[in-house]
Amino acid sequence: MTASAALSSFRDEEPKISDFRTEALAGLRGQPRVLPCKFFYDETGSRLFEQITTLPEYYLTRTEEAILADRAGEISALAGPGCQVVEYGSGAIRKARILIEALDRPAGYVAVDISRDHLIQAAEALAGDYPDLEVHAVCTDYTTDFAVPDPRDRIATRRLGFFPGSTIGNFEPGAATDFLAAAARTLGRTGAMVIGTDLQKDKEILEAAYDDAAGVTAAFNLHLLERLNQELGGSFDMSLYQHVAVYNEAAARIEMHIESLAEQIVEVAGESFAFAEGERIHTENSHKYTVEGFRDLAAGAGFETKQTWTDEDGLFAVHYLAVAD
Ligand code: AVI
Repeated sequence: MTASAALSSFRDEEPKISDFRTEALAGLRGQPRVLPCKFFYDETGSRLFEQITTLPEYYLTRTEEAILADRAGEISALAGPGCQVVEYGSGAIRKARILIEALDRPAGYVAVDISRDHLIQAAEALAGDYPDLEVHAVCTDYTTDFAVPDPRDRIATRRLGFFPGSTIGNFEPGAATDFLAAAARTLGRTGAMVIGTDLQKDKEILEAAYDDAAGVTAAFNLHLLERLNQELGGSFDMSLYQHVAVYNEAAARIEMHIESLAEQIVEVAGESFAFAEGERIHTENSHKYTVEGFRDLAAGAGFETKQTWTDEDGLFAVHYLAVAD
């Protein structure tokens, strides 16, 4: 990796950072109890998630990367020369490099993320590695409408959205449609989108991917209780809760929960919560789609699916969507 370089532009839309205290307390008071999955990703949680992506059971990351690498030439042919890549939730900007290297004279890359410091760091590192590429960064909540910076020196032939990782699966189907519809507006009439979705498959494979033998996913999930203890004066005894990952076949989603192993009362921010033995806190849904099911969802949001690629075991899908006329 070369030294980092200056960005072509940085725009801070000063996104509203979710209030952990308000949302966590509301979730714990509700029935069933919930803790929103966005709270997984503090520094420790993000590190644990990076570890998850390398686990043998978590096939999603390596399978998607292999599909992108195998199909990068086809993606480039569909996108055509001179497109501007817009990555939603750009994080460490790893997978986008596969696209950037394959595209024909890209007009630039726009990293969009809510986490300001990481965004700047990752985008500057990319700019250092690709000195001929215009790199822009927008700090915003990518699920809201935002303005994409235009390339400085040329006109982009199209905006190519990029949303890998099957993160769309963490949205409820209605919210996934709303997000894609907003993306279609942002990307514009000639816009397109490369998006990864995890596929429906045997329960055993899915449950192992979300409950690995090394216990990393369990640590990732239970870290939410550590956050409550550390940040909100919580009194959770970590030895009295367990990680649960189950595939809900009717809803075609992996559900993660935290289950109380005993009847107990805990304090969070001065408030008491009584747990029955076996009572759960629902922490995440990860929806799994069929290729046809996802195409229908995308169509409902104003995208036409031009191409879908899967690996030979049918584990994961990468779709090329075009904004419909
Ligand atoms: C970020 N997201 C796509 C992951 C998933 O597979 O739903 C989050 C995750 N949860 C447990 N393991 C990974």
